Amino acid sequence: MGICAKRISKTIGRPPVNILTNIDLQIPDGDFAALTGRSGSGKSSLLYLLSSLDTASTGVIEIDGMDIYQMDPEALGQFRNEKMGFIFQFHYLLTELTVLENVLFPTRKLGQSGQKKAYAEHLLNQVGLGDKLHRFPRQLSGGEQQRVAIARAFIMDPKYLFADEPTGSLDSANGQLVMKILSEAHATQKTTIILVTHDPYFADMAKRQILLSDGQILIDELET
Ligand SMILES: Nc1ncnc2c1ncn2[C@@H]1O[C@H](COP(=O)(O)OP(=O)(O)O)[C@@H](O)[C@H]1O
Ligand SMILES: [Mg+2]
Repeated sequence: MGICAKRISKTIGRPPVNILTNIDLQIPDGDFAALTGRSGSGKSSLLYLLSSLDTASTGVIEIDGMDIYQMDPEALGQFRNEKMGFIFQFHYLLTELTVLENVLFPTRKLGQSGQKKAYAEHLLNQVGLGDKLHRFPRQLSGGEQQRVAIARAFIMDPKYLFADEPTGSLDSANGQLVMKILSEAHATQKTTIILVTHDPYFADMAKRQILLSDGQILIDELET
């Protein structure tokens, strides 16, 4: 199953500019792929298409066997909530909710907050925030806020995890910790991970590196 992109292109603006051109890509279940390339090469744009958060101008994307452009918005929303986790460079926590409530937020729609509470606490322990469950985001450092966002991304045990420069705004210790969490999820839960990074050191931690240049895939290779 996995994620499959067939000849996708993305055009933006007037006059139209091609930001991704004829991309064919197959991400099998259990893969850990790093999307790399210079700033402006199209990494984020491709990640947004592969994760269904944005729509391609042409081409087909299948996630877990579903042609996502044929799904109605409500079904796609539910599919995302159940199967996908997202980590961004800036974390988008809800300021009026506590750390624990933020992590539990994705469970609300399914009415699972009660049964997931212990798991949320476990995840927050794992990211070193077990003693800060009832703080508000503004009472945390940037690195701590990013770790809350990571716990939130894992609360539904997503089959697919998408991360856009998750270490980009962090110091090196927090960056290492974030990568350790991703690597462990991949190793122990077989989470399929697509990670955007321009940091070669972090890209090396992935199983596969996909190098973008000018909106096209230049190199796609497995780590040896
Ligand atoms: N909404 C947009 N409008 C116009 N151009 C955009 C938009 N989003 C991205 N681009 C352009 O598309 C190219 C790829 O951007 P992006 O995917 O963000 O690259 P990366 O993540 O590799 O830095 C860049 O040249 C960028 O300026
Ligand atoms: Mg980007």
